[in-house]
Amino acid sequence: MGKPKVYVTRLIPKEGLAILREAADVTMWEGNSPVPRKVLEKEIIEADGLISLITDTIDETLMEQAKNLKIVANYAVGFDNIDVKAASKKGICVTNTPDVLTNATADLTWALILATARRIVEAERFVRNGMWKAWTPTLMVGKDVQGATLGIVGLGRIGQAVAKRAKGFSMKVLYYDQKRNPEAEERLEISFHPLSELMSESDFVSIHVPLNKQTHHLIGKEEMKEMKEDAILINTSRGSVVDEEALVSALADGWIGGAGLDVFEEEPLPMNSKLLQMINVVLLPHIGSASREARKQMAVVVAENVTAALSGKTPPDTVN
Ligand code: GLV
Repeated sequence: MGKPKVYVTRLIPKEGLAILREAADVTMWEGNSPVPRKVLEKEIIEADGLISLITDTIDETLMEQAKNLKIVANYAVGFDNIDVKAASKKGICVTNTPDVLTNATADLTWALILATARRIVEAERFVRNGMWKAWTPTLMVGKDVQGATLGIVGLGRIGQAVAKRAKGFSMKVLYYDQKRNPEAEERLEISFHPLSELMSESDFVSIHVPLNKQTHHLIGKEEMKEMKEDAILINTSRGSVVDEEALVSALADGWIGGAGLDVFEEEPLPMNSKLLQMINVVLLPHIGSASREARKQMAVVVAENVTAALSGKTPPDTVN
């Protein structure tokens, strides 16, 4: 009997590929853009394992073509690109990459908090454009972070890591989640608040929930209207957790002070997005987990999940 077949939808760090190659025949899409649907439809037919990215839609129609598929290992902590219910129905295991990207994503969240508060991108453009004439008391004055109130929406691993970092800035930290976490409240010295209270009391609101039916547009017009006029919204989770049209109004009409966004309803962000015209937003290309170590460990994790599934074991990061 030959080795099982694993299809990888994009080149991932070599540490993961080395583990996979020990156990399987590995083929992959080596293009720079997402694997075309037609290619994926063909490759999935014979694959025993699939490593997917968040740019791949793994839906029921696709999985129905698979004859041998045992696992879809997503190279991400979020897995809203996969129809998990359909996978379960077909007995296909779905896994993600938790833990290994928590710190990288929390760090990036903090980069956005500081960049938006202290107008870093705007100030940097100012220097590059030759507009810096003299040190001035009123030049690029921003928002204070030290001692401010941070509202965390979603107290999972990443939300907790963001809260932990807030201690260094002596912030008051509030959180909202579907369920309370008394242990984390004590450990991180944070307090639970209903969402509307959190929105109205926070100077910074940072979102850390997964995208699903319950969280789609969780932060909409009503929630943004509750925010302070100079508050800043940070999103490093999924674009569709925020109603982006309402966010554009919030930023344009001054309901809120600014936003730091790593994720968007449509990615890549369309070039006609009104967000691109706004000075009070910092826009990043979905790079929350993009640190060398995190990306390397994510490759190891997907590979270990796949090899476990191929040898008949329950993969460690199974989500279904
Ligand atoms: C990236 O967005 C991830 O979910 O890991």
